[in-house]
Amino acid sequence: MKLLVTGGCGFIGTNFIRLMLAKHPDWHITNLDKLTYAGNRLNLLDLEKEEPRYNFVQGDICDRDLAMDLLADQTFDAVINFAAESHVDRSINDPSPFVTTNIQGAQNLLECARQRNISRFVHISTDEVYGSLGDEGKFMETTPLAPNSPYSASKAGADLMARAYFETYGFPVLITRCSNNYGPYQFPEKLIPLMYMNAMADKPLPVYGDGLNVRDWIFVDDHCLGIELTLLKGREGQAYNFGGNAEETNINVVKTLLAAVNKPESLITYVTDRPGHDKRYAMDYSLAANELGFAPTLDFAEGIRKTIEWYEANTTWLEQVQSGEYRSFMDTWYEERS
Ligand code: NAD
Ligand code: DAU
Repeated sequence: MKLLVTGGCGFIGTNFIRLMLAKHPDWHITNLDKLTYAGNRLNLLDLEKEEPRYNFVQGDICDRDLAMDLLADQTFDAVINFAAESHVDRSINDPSPFVTTNIQGAQNLLECARQRNISRFVHISTDEVYGSLGDEGKFMETTPLAPNSPYSASKAGADLMARAYFETYGFPVLITRCSNNYGPYQFPEKLIPLMYMNAMADKPLPVYGDGLNVRDWIFVDDHCLGIELTLLKGREGQAYNFGGNAEETNINVVKTLLAAVNKPESLITYVTDRPGHDKRYAMDYSLAANELGFAPTLDFAEGIRKTIEWYEANTTWLEQVQSGEYRSFMDTWYEERS
């Protein structure tokens, strides 16, 4: 199998590339990544140096000439589109790059792949396209899309474009919609790595609103296995939900982390809520379970333990990713909420 993966220097893409190359000795992966603030080439530098089955190309999924050339030069069996602007808070500050990459970039990639007769295209989406739940129920693939943030609206736009490519052109696109991932290589603007980093520095842990918003947490490798199953066994034109069966309030997540690293709960600081903050996400992934054989393998306690072990063993990585650009966004965002 020869794959073109986009956004592979980000959190989930990095884990996916590592897992798939280790699992499948006959797979070859080319990674197209723009290297935004969230993309870290160092994540996969060992593969770049030592693994002939891995190839890195720096570039933008919005670049039509580049995508057309790349897809013509090599005979890819499939494209997997991870590339995106992925942080909700940043999308509130400035939605523009979200529209550019998440909608226009996805459409550009779909179009180039269609013109080059690519036989499978997996588009990585999110549970956030469904909006927010009350206390009961779960999102199903048939739940109407009702995104609430500029980020989720841009992801929903791409999902609808992917659907249109299947319906209009019969282009073989599949969509994955997963809940909140955590694990190695996650950029420390997201809840779990941010709280870990602040706790270790004895800094305040900024919990939005009352801390009672609920997310369904999945260890990143389980999401990657779901993507692999979609690629190998999914039905063309279908969207598949994935989740970790681990609903937690944010405050519980933060308290679990603090206990695991032996830091006091007095570090918790409630701050001004995120505007349009979705209350609860929960995934019904029975379609993926029944059709693809998907089941998450790690529970939340085990996943958090593995994640903390990784951070403890990779303190240099954590220091390196806290660059100037990252710091200036964080300083402004949290200053406004205190
Ligand atoms: P991330 O922000 O860690 O990584 C995104 C990657 O995409 C980076 O390497 C970045 O450099 C690259 N990129 C951004 N714009 C690009 C462009 N125009 N061209 C090429 N590369 C570009 O994101 P992530 O958390 O790894 O998420 C990956 C995908 O999974 C996204 O599509 C996201 O919407 C989706 N998703 C994420 C989660 C989660 O919990 N993190 C859950 C469900 C779905
Ligand atoms: O559900 C899947 C989505 O999960 C992905 O599509 C997104 O790319 C990914 O960023 C993530 O979105 P969330 O907004 O749910 O993740 P985040 O880590 O930003 O926040 C998780 C919860 O924690 C959310 O309810 C907001 C809250 N939070 C977050 C931060 C950064 C806080 O209370 N304080 C914080 O400082």
